[in-house]
Amino acid sequence: MNPKLEIKKVTTKAVAELKQRGEKIAVLTAYDFLLAKLLDEAGVDIILVGDSLANVYQGRTTTLGVTLDEMIYHAKAVCRGVKRAMVIVDMPFLSYQISPEEAVRNCGRVMKETDAEGVKIEGGAPMAETIRRVLEIGIPVMGHLGLTPQSIHQFGSYEVRAKGGKEATQLLKDAKILDELGVFSLVLEKVPAKLAKRVTASVKAATIGIGAGPHCDGQVLVVYDMLGLYELASGKQPKFVRKYLEGRKLFRSAFERYVADVKGKKFPRKEESY
Ligand code: KIV
Repeated sequence: MNPKLEIKKVTTKAVAELKQRGEKIAVLTAYDFLLAKLLDEAGVDIILVGDSLANVYQGRTTTLGVTLDEMIYHAKAVCRGVKRAMVIVDMPFLSYQISPEEAVRNCGRVMKETDAEGVKIEGGAPMAETIRRVLEIGIPVMGHLGLTPQSIHQFGSYEVRAKGGKEATQLLKDAKILDELGVFSLVLEKVPAKLAKRVTASVKAATIGIGAGPHCDGQVLVVYDMLGLYELASGKQPKFVRKYLEGRKLFRSAFERYVADVKGKKFPRKEESY
């Protein structure tokens, strides 16, 4: 086994090297300076400014409504907190689907206006020309296959995708197309572990799983989910979400103690006053 790869700054080259060495890649989302800084200090390799911010930050029911300006606003804050990790920005719905020209302009805006180091684009073969053009002007692209949340209304549910048959065959084809184009990594969301394993073995790009089992080259979670802060309206979290903190309980108890202290005239004390 190789000793752990020391990486001063995570780049596309470093990601490829991690895959080659069989060292797993840790990815989390972030939407603000403070959490991005903590993630970076903790050794997270890639920080994704995910359009999941539409759900967990803006309180929307899908990711469709978040705008490019909003993504750029959050990406700027995240980049200010990061030294080592690679920062990737999710391209929001309708910022890249209309034409390759518009995609180039909008991905270019992200790269020009933030310090991010790449973009994420959902979709397979139908997005090939767009991804080719974006890569052609030197922007690293992370692909995204499987349960692509921007297509939720077409899917009709958040169930596991590509369980077999045509959809699984197409996903493998799509992964190979994106890989040939040169995406540096590929998110596989909510697909069977067996399929994710097959894709991982078939592509040079680093696969990053979310609900895609243990065989991917890396794993990603939405940061508010893993902190136990975000709760779906149904109260049920998907089984792939491992909670590393009982965030809601801890935060709520802190806020309740604060309210009690203020109401009970216990805050501020003399030592906390001028
Ligand atoms: O928007 C997001 O956070 C994502 C990840 C969950 C992959 O796309």
